[in-house]
Amino acid sequence: MVKIYPRFTEAEIKARGLNPAAMPQHVGLIMDGNGRWAKKRLMPRTAGHRAGMEAMKFCVRFSHSIGVKALTVYAFSTENWKRPITEVDALFNLLAEYFYRDIDELHANNVKMIVIGDLGRLSPKMRGLLETAMERTKNNTGLVFNVAINYGGRAEIVHAVRSLVEEGVKAEDITEEAISSRIYTAGQPDPDVIIRTAGEERLSNFLLWQAAYSEFVFTPVLFPDFGEEAYTSCLKEYMGRTRRFGKVL
Ligand code: FPP
Repeated sequence: MVKIYPRFTEAEIKARGLNPAAMPQHVGLIMDGNGRWAKKRLMPRTAGHRAGMEAMKFCVRFSHSIGVKALTVYAFSTENWKRPITEVDALFNLLAEYFYRDIDELHANNVKMIVIGDLGRLSPKMRGLLETAMERTKNNTGLVFNVAINYGGRAEIVHAVRSLVEEGVKAEDITEEAISSRIYTAGQPDPDVIIRTAGEERLSNFLLWQAAYSEFVFTPVLFPDFGEEAYTSCLKEYMGRTRRFGKVL
């Protein structure tokens, strides 16, 4: 039996201290602190990643419930290959487990899965699994769930420019719009807010192009502990900001 995620009414959203009219359309999430969470408990780092996966599932459900339109999570960066091979393998095993076991539930909840990043370096089996998930959910109209795997923001921009050049686009036609139309999240609104857990305050090559006008919210909460309270509190902080987009208001 798959779980059907609740859709909160306006009153239920307000009861959580959130303003439905100011809900971000797109949330970016840097899921940091799994290792520290595990270390504090004298557990292996992989146990922290497993707990992080559960927190990520909560974020998908809750984003759906409160009416966020797109959620992008940083699951594996191009720099993460530098980790010990055992940890890299454990992360990919978790990802494979997630895409295999949870896809029915995500599909039943109308979630559209998009994997962003350079999938060329992944094993054919892993790629097949990710492509099947994308293909199966491509016509869904609910939450767009972008999972960044072997993703790097600079590499994404290089990839976008290269595809324009390969298409024979003239230098003067390489515009911001043209690049926006070739990045992995083409057609989606840019993230209104990027949340990073575990106290670090940097972007780490995440959504560099898309983050031009994003608000940043940092929380000391380690990602496995990032539940309703922490997510709501980050969204409240975002809702309290004035977004000027370079203008004088
Ligand atoms: C950062 O924690 C987290 C990651 C490098 C990976 C994020 C992965 C997950 C949340 C779990 C699996 C995800 C999926 C999609 C199945 P860290 O290891 O850098 O923590 P630390 O900074 O405390 O060491």
